[in-house]
Amino acid sequence: MISPGLILFPSFLCYVAFAVETCPSPEELPFATVIPFKKSYQLGEEIVYFCKPGYESRGGLRQLTCPLTGVWPVNTLKCTPKVCPFAGILENGAVRYTSFEYPNSISFSCNPGYYLNGTHTATCTEEGKWSEEIPVCALVTCPPPPVPSFARLSVYKPTSGNHSLYKDVAFFECIPHYVMLGNSAITCTEYGNWTESPECKEVKCPFPSRPNHGYVNYPSKLTLYYKDRATFGCHNTYVLEGPEEVECTRHGNWSAQPSCKASCQLPVKRATVLYDGERVKLQEKFRNGMMHGDVVSFFCKNKEKKCSYIEPAQCIDGTVSIPKCFKEHNYLAFWKSDASDLKSC
Ligand SMILES: *[C@@H]1O[C@H](CO)[C@@H](O)[C@H](O)[C@H]1NC(C)=O
Ligand SMILES: *[C@@H]1O[C@H](CO)[C@@H](O)[C@H](O)[C@H]1NC(C)=O
Ligand SMILES: *[C@@H]1O[C@H](CO)[C@@H](O)[C@H](O)[C@H]1NC(C)=O
Ligand SMILES: *[C@@H]1O[C@H](CO)[C@@H](O)[C@H](O)[C@H]1NC(C)=O
Repeated sequence: MISPGLILFPSFLCYVAFAVETCPSPEELPFATVIPFKKSYQLGEEIVYFCKPGYESRGGLRQLTCPLTGVWPVNTLKCTPKVCPFAGILENGAVRYTSFEYPNSISFSCNPGYYLNGTHTATCTEEGKWSEEIPVCALVTCPPPPVPSFARLSVYKPTSGNHSLYKDVAFFECIPHYVMLGNSAITCTEYGNWTESPECKEVKCPFPSRPNHGYVNYPSKLTLYYKDRATFGCHNTYVLEGPEEVECTRHGNWSAQPSCKASCQLPVKRATVLYDGERVKLQEKFRNGMMHGDVVSFFCKNKEKKCSYIEPAQCIDGTVSIPKCFKEHNYLAFWKSDASDLKSC
């Protein structure tokens, strides 16, 4: 017959041994895992520390045994991130990074005029290698420029084989009769394309109208186009106001509309006047009348002060207004002096 105490006793011993002679969960180390990981270990049980993927050991003990004391020895294992190969320099570009260690990423960019041939970012992998091939900065080139309709290249020189380099410039011109809308210059952009090309538009002008008392000459064609010219003239005593030659403009109208202006017949028989700063006899100098635009200055008398002053008069399209102060000298009244003979006021 076994006493109940004998049953209880071993289980008590067992309990004591269990309580004292086991090891607790081991210390956790940065970037490391423990195998096997448990709440408690028996005496003599082994554990192994492994660095997590992407980390590697830099010395220290990896393998531990649960000792009699039930206290794990101090673990000196150090796991540090793997370091990817140096990638801090990109010719004609820049690399942005904080470190080359797992699991960081770095990014790449190129200087203006270069483009990234390859990846924009790379990540340091668990294997300590870059996830992508390190890119290069390649020169930006533009293909030969597209020539718009009715245009031709006036200045263009490829600088890289058949291609152009970033910032290269080419110029267009329109074929005759066509007007350019937009910029004549295009530039090779950082994207390897050209800035927007201009357009060429056909421009016609109506036939110029003949001025009254004059004539107009223009090329004898069915249609007049941009940059065609016309010349104007006036008959006998008429004077052209405006340019003699006009041009069909980019707006499809003429640069000017000259007209013929009449000359002026003078209602004064005799007078000494100032013309172009010189004293002239009106009846001689302007025997055939004043031309449109001509200006003369008449002498007027200031009776109180016995002196003279001048007032101008201009011929405008057949009309000239003689100054009111002007009195035509009566040559029969020879004792009276003419205003033009008096000293000026
Ligand atoms: C761009 O990269 C690819 C692959 O590395 C290469 O074959 C090609 O020649 C490169 N192009 C230039 C313009 O560098
Ligand atoms: C330029 O283009 C011509 C004709 O398309 C071609 O024969 C020549 O090989 C090209 N040259 C270069 C450097 O690409
Ligand atoms: C040139 O390429 C860039 C980038 O792809 C685009 O945004 C731009 O509109 C293009 N320019 C022209 C004139 O096509
Ligand atoms: C020609 O047309 C343009 C645009 O409509 C206008 O600005 C200009 O004044 C015109 N020129 C003449 C001489 O009429």
